[in-house]
Amino acid sequence: MTEEINQPYPTAYTHIEEATRESGFTMASDVLTCSLLRTLAATKPSGKFLELGTGTGLSTAWILDGMDEDSSLISIDNEQDFLSIARRFLGDDKRLELLHTDGGEWVEKNRQQKFDYIFADTWHGKYLQLDEVLAMLNKGGLYIIDDMLPQPNWPAGHHEKANSLVSYLETREDLLLTKQVWATGIGIAVKK
Ligand SMILES: C[S@@+](CC[C@H](N)C(=O)[O-])C[C@H]1O[C@@H](n2cnc3c(N)ncnc32)[C@H](O)[C@@H]1O
Repeated sequence: MTEEINQPYPTAYTHIEEATRESGFTMASDVLTCSLLRTLAATKPSGKFLELGTGTGLSTAWILDGMDEDSSLISIDNEQDFLSIARRFLGDDKRLELLHTDGGEWVEKNRQQKFDYIFADTWHGKYLQLDEVLAMLNKGGLYIIDDMLPQPNWPAGHHEKANSLVSYLETREDLLLTKQVWATGIGIAVKK
């Protein structure tokens, strides 16, 4: 077995990838992570999905590709330029709501919402408002994070932050966590 992805990529992915390169966006999710996101998305038929940190929509394309027709995805980002790439290639998908908003404000206003799958790929839901976002998980819901292994663009002190996030997740009795030292470093937790 190798890490090679031999199943078809989402149709929009190549276009988004090209536009992402041209845009200079440097925080793109790793394609192996994206593949995992799609596989896990398919475990939640009729699911409610949340993505914090759309970027240009790379991970969004893979999550949508794993979702069934009765599922819905809210994806948020505070950078209009990045979101506009996601909107250009994924905006016709009726299951997707792309929101231009600050993560902190959105979480604060939507604390009552519940999700079956949360991909936390920005500050909020990871290093900020973690408890609030974990409270949004339904029983059996998945909480997924990436970039938990040292990355070239990490500022000083981020390594410690990442380690304390993992340690905190391990103390939560309502979560079952698996850490993968693979791709950019993945955490997958399920709400009990
Ligand atoms: C790691 S990138 C997301 C990558 C994306 N998931 C992908 O597949 O390429 C993090 C994103 O968080 C967004 N972001 C940063 N601060 C934010 C905030 N306060 N509220 C919402 N989004 C924020 C950035 O604009 C950036 O697109």
